[in-house]
Amino acid sequence: MTTTEPTSKCPVHNFNPLEELPAGEKIATYDRLRDEAPVIWNEFATGYYVVTRHEEMLAVLQNPDTFSNRAVTVFDPNPTYKWIPEMLDGDEHLQWRRQLGPRFSPKAVAQMEDKVRRRAVELVEGILAKGTGSCDFMNEFAFQYPTSIFLDLMGLPIDDLPQFMEWEHEILHVAGSGEEASRRRGIAMASVIEYFSGVIEARRESPGEDLISAALTFEVDGTPVSDEDMQNFCLLMFMAGLDTVSATLGLSFMHLASHPEDRTRIVEDPSLIPAAIEEFIRAYAIVIPARKAAVDTEIGGCPVKAGSMVAVPLNAATRDDAVFEDAKTVEITRTPNNHIGFGAGPHRCLGSHLARRELKIALEEWHKRIPVYRLDPDSAPTESGGQLGPNKDITLLWDN
Ligand code: HEM
Repeated sequence: MTTTEPTSKCPVHNFNPLEELPAGEKIATYDRLRDEAPVIWNEFATGYYVVTRHEEMLAVLQNPDTFSNRAVTVFDPNPTYKWIPEMLDGDEHLQWRRQLGPRFSPKAVAQMEDKVRRRAVELVEGILAKGTGSCDFMNEFAFQYPTSIFLDLMGLPIDDLPQFMEWEHEILHVAGSGEEASRRRGIAMASVIEYFSGVIEARRESPGEDLISAALTFEVDGTPVSDEDMQNFCLLMFMAGLDTVSATLGLSFMHLASHPEDRTRIVEDPSLIPAAIEEFIRAYAIVIPARKAAVDTEIGGCPVKAGSMVAVPLNAATRDDAVFEDAKTVEITRTPNNHIGFGAGPHRCLGSHLARRELKIALEEWHKRIPVYRLDPDSAPTESGGQLGPNKDITLLWDN
């Protein structure tokens, strides 16, 4: 049953956004939808709107009173869970952001530089030490790198890395929306919460320098945060900070492996790396946030009833020719490049400085050691789940 009805002003489609498809196909779908209309109705499952153009997307993301974060999954308009800070609105959200802000500031992130760089070097050197002239890029680098940085940020032992990678796979990459997939996701999410419950209890007794200990000192409306809020915070950090960087690394390296001219430019002049990263985040924007209409409203002339779910696939906006010249082309020195790959409005990515630094260091350390490589022609990267980006099967080859 649909939660709301499309109007004649809005084209109707029916596609499964979670489906496993060859990497790149989903971006092409959103490109086509943008060319067709500023907003469409996808009647798949319970039905939801998809905003496809930059101007309309900003109007949604920057108007939280009209488009709420109380529900951020299009298939779940009435969630019983509350990921923090992503699913908070208004003043409660602001209070969390104010207290979290200093931990993610450019200055705080700069202090992580040495550790992050050491981790990148360790991983690339480990890959080279195998001497095979090849690697399974997602499993040997792209998943391990941000996950170990996350463990460090949260003050967790590196020995837990394999366990975290398994949960990450179960929660974010088990393909499909079927019963079995949601059962597995549910089990893994419950395990993550149980794991963090133990850590929260331990940190209350014996605080450290980590983010969990810091968040335990936060107050909202003068009241200390509860254990439940802390669990919801840890779960959101897990979902926001790991896979986003892995997926962006996957897309960036797929691009560089298949565009030797861009790769040569950054190898010869590594000062181009930050601009190249900005361009990858723009052209391959991976996140598809969602909002719930809090009141009857309209988007791009299309009436939207209160309670409707609205998806905002950021890639559709960041590849909109109305804002970026030749938007579908990757131009690694593009300036200006004022994209919304990290979102817009009050929920704009809290971890953007950390993400940029992780990506910059990864590209620097990799290309110092492996400047020439190619994608194995037998690789067949696919993407599945609520976010874009490959999650497996990127085999890179190079001459030893
Ligand atoms: C390339 C990597 C990344 C990309 C593309 C990305 C993108 C985004 C986007 C688009 C949002 C907004 C979601 C919305 O509007 O509903 C967001 C929110 C968020 N991101 Fe990131 N992110 C990345 C990395 C990270 C990292 C490394 C962390 C932390 C370790 C992080 C933490 C967060 C948090 C906590 C939020 C929620 C902010 C709020 O609700 O106020 N992200 N991210």
